[in-house]
Amino acid sequence: MCGIVGYVGTKDAYPLIIKGLQLLEYRGYDSAGIATYNGKLRVFKKKGKVKDLINLVKESSVPEGTIGIGHTRWATHGLPNDINAHPHLSGDGKLVLIHNGIIENYNVLKEALKKEGHEFISETDTEVLVHLIEETQKRTGLPIEEAVRVALTKVVGAYAIIVMDTDEPDKLVAARKGSPLVLGIGEDEFFIASDPTPIIEHTQKVVFLNDEEIAVVQRSGDFQIKDIDNRIQTPFIQELDMKIAELGKGDFDYYMQKEIYEQPKTIEDCMRGRVNAHEGWVMLSGIKEFSERISKAKRFIVAACGTSWHAGLIGEYLIEELARIPVEVEYASELRYRNPIINSDDVVIALSQSGETADTLAALGLAKEKGALIYGVVNAVGSSIARMTDAGSYIHAGPEIGVASTKAFTGQVTLLTIMAMCLGYERGTIPRSYYLQLIEELANIPSKVARVLENSKKIEYIAGEIKEATNALYLGRGYNFPVALEGALKLKEISYIHAEGYPAAEMKHGPIALIDENMPVIVIATNKSAYEKIVSNIQEVKARKGVVIAVVTEGDKIISDIADYTIEIPDTDEPLTPLLSVIPLQLLSYYIAVMRGCNVDQPRNLAKSVTVE
Ligand code: G6P
Repeated sequence: MCGIVGYVGTKDAYPLIIKGLQLLEYRGYDSAGIATYNGKLRVFKKKGKVKDLINLVKESSVPEGTIGIGHTRWATHGLPNDINAHPHLSGDGKLVLIHNGIIENYNVLKEALKKEGHEFISETDTEVLVHLIEETQKRTGLPIEEAVRVALTKVVGAYAIIVMDTDEPDKLVAARKGSPLVLGIGEDEFFIASDPTPIIEHTQKVVFLNDEEIAVVQRSGDFQIKDIDNRIQTPFIQELDMKIAELGKGDFDYYMQKEIYEQPKTIEDCMRGRVNAHEGWVMLSGIKEFSERISKAKRFIVAACGTSWHAGLIGEYLIEELARIPVEVEYASELRYRNPIINSDDVVIALSQSGETADTLAALGLAKEKGALIYGVVNAVGSSIARMTDAGSYIHAGPEIGVASTKAFTGQVTLLTIMAMCLGYERGTIPRSYYLQLIEELANIPSKVARVLENSKKIEYIAGEIKEATNALYLGRGYNFPVALEGALKLKEISYIHAEGYPAAEMKHGPIALIDENMPVIVIATNKSAYEKIVSNIQEVKARKGVVIAVVTEGDKIISDIADYTIEIPDTDEPLTPLLSVIPLQLLSYYIAVMRGCNVDQPRNLAKSVTVE
């Protein structure tokens, strides 16, 4: 939520910051703003997207200066409008601040500041913060980095901030707690951003700030990091291995489309060094160090949100079937607030694409306090979740920019499949012949995903047939039940059609009442077990004139004869089915959203990285 960028160095700040904001726009797109300084402070703010900000700037002259900050907003406090857009200024107009997060005690602080004569023009919590720093500076006469540190001791909530002081125009001050912030170290220049994407074109040398750290970067090339208690910290400088080409759309119209089509490769990348069909083994170095504790765990608890939660449900089916370890899958937001029973012999798995989701982070904090082993399955390298876990595995899907998650989902499911197989093998709960069969089949999955993608014309046609629907139902059994949930979520997210996912058999307990000739029912019907049951479910829908779109295994005649439309996917072992059956559902949502004229990559009200509760 909200993307922030800062630059100080020798180059023109404006184009660098605008480009950075465009790369961070997936984090929020309600409004955008920028401030630069070149003897004179220039601030531009605009409701809407970064392109609206660019148009606003075009109406006057492009702001000059080699220092600046920029923001793209996902509104929390106050409507998305020009006034509430960041940056926000202190009362005397000398301090400029951008913020990602929520200041929970902003009302108390605001009232106290009002008594000191401060006046506020926006409805945001952020404006309170910049006034608080101004007041601290006024009272103490401290340099800006110290004033920021002291002011932050009074703040409750989450923040990633960058502050520019026009009285000290060669430095930027940045701080974080709960919201991510990365420092890029170039030659006589520094970049600060919510994630590394705006930085990597300029330098791969980065420092991920930790919670309650304050960094000051100077044009001279000096920088220093302190904690909130004024102790100097030794920065951990890392070299990233990210390519700028990974951040483009390539020949695709949308990031989501590109990411759907990348899946044969991203699944392969996730398996690299972990699955060897030739020699017949799977391994996960993440579980090696704690293998005793993990394989003897009494219980696994998966904590996740959104699409990652759906991947977690598939993980439950996989781990329980193959490794016979009980698994509970929790919405991270629920887990953290319900005083759950978590023991020291539990393993808590955090699933997160971004590695920054506030609820997942908080749930992990709780699990850690209770002594459980924390395992991260994360995409974003160096993210907060990746850094707070005891052990973990990256899914190596590369940057996912489309707000609706696709390749991260299949990466998470691939990783959980490997984990379940490793544990099953170690615990002796999976027969060797089946283990070898699954390994061989897993290695075939990327080419089978590619085959599903070749079917896109038919899926596009079906999308055209149902694009006017106002509701849709997704049904699946067993491994395909979480896929039904994910299919429904994809449709809701990007096309704004109301959709629900259900276990096929549960249809009789409510949703069947909704079925009529206007209701598309998407049935994921590739199951070998309970095949007859799913055929009966389809018959029940047809008897009520529902429009059935069935995802079936290649060569299926029975369902093809009953359903209105069928989408075939290659045959595979049941535990691996989700990796194939989710692909047509991703494409179906994508085409429907495009046909309805929706902004596929930036659906309304959503953000990719949910760093607020
Ligand atoms: C947001 C995104 C979803 C994502 C969820 C969890 O809602 O729009 O695509 O699944 O957050 O995010 P995470 O980064 O923790 O997987």
